[in-house]
Amino acid sequence: MIQENQTLPENLPAHIAVIMDGNGRWAQARGLPRSAGHRAGAEAVRIVVTECRSLGIRHLTLYAFSSENWNRPKAEISALFSLLLEFLRQEVPLMEEKGIALKVLGDLDGLPLPQRTALRHAMSRTAHGREMILNLALNYGGRAELVRAVQSFLREGASPEMVTEKSLAARLYTRDQPDPDLLIRTSGEQRLSNYLLYQCAYSELYFTPTLWPDFGVAQLHEALAAYAARSRRFGKTQEQINVS
Ligand code: FPP
Repeated sequence: MIQENQTLPENLPAHIAVIMDGNGRWAQARGLPRSAGHRAGAEAVRIVVTECRSLGIRHLTLYAFSSENWNRPKAEISALFSLLLEFLRQEVPLMEEKGIALKVLGDLDGLPLPQRTALRHAMSRTAHGREMILNLALNYGGRAELVRAVQSFLREGASPEMVTEKSLAARLYTRDQPDPDLLIRTSGEQRLSNYLLYQCAYSELYFTPTLWPDFGVAQLHEALAAYAARSRRFGKTQEQINVS
């Protein structure tokens, strides 16, 4: 177990993506409503964003609301969206101060008006941030993102030759950002759940049984140590890696 004050590895990921799972189970274990789990989850978001910023992680992408999450009970959806507004109200001034630019991955137009407006405002207010990009995946689905990219090619009348890995990546919500080096999923589930399907082609996957509200600085450091111990080969042999 890595302690918070232990030395961190040198090769930190440039981009961490997180599937924040387990809020409901965290609440259930305490006899609390699911919304209390999401509130505790929002607190974990604050802690993890702050720590990543201090460590110099340049990109952090959090799965806050998937396109499938619309299937949840109305009251839970509404609690999640209220938390989002609260989070933005509290955090945007701090993000601005700390040089953190907020971006949204997903279909912004499909979100309720107050959240859409607050997100647009937050994005423009933090746009000049150069220290870190915080991507919130909201109303996001990886397959829908790919369909949208293909539609944009067709709309432009692109020829088959114009469709390349590079031009496709430029049509994704993450354009201009590196692919995630590390994907963390909490709560013991080991699935991608339609998250960053194209971008995670070579990401290191890290699964932890910790429920998201219990995920803090020590758990993040533990994930970073596990990442540093991995050998990333991108399809090459270990010998090829050793000589390069
Ligand atoms: C999964 O836990 C979590 C979500 C669907 C939403 C993530 C939201 C937050 C962490 C809080 C709000 C975020 C921001 C940015 C303010 P689950 O409910 O599926 O947990 P379960 O699998 O235990 O039921």
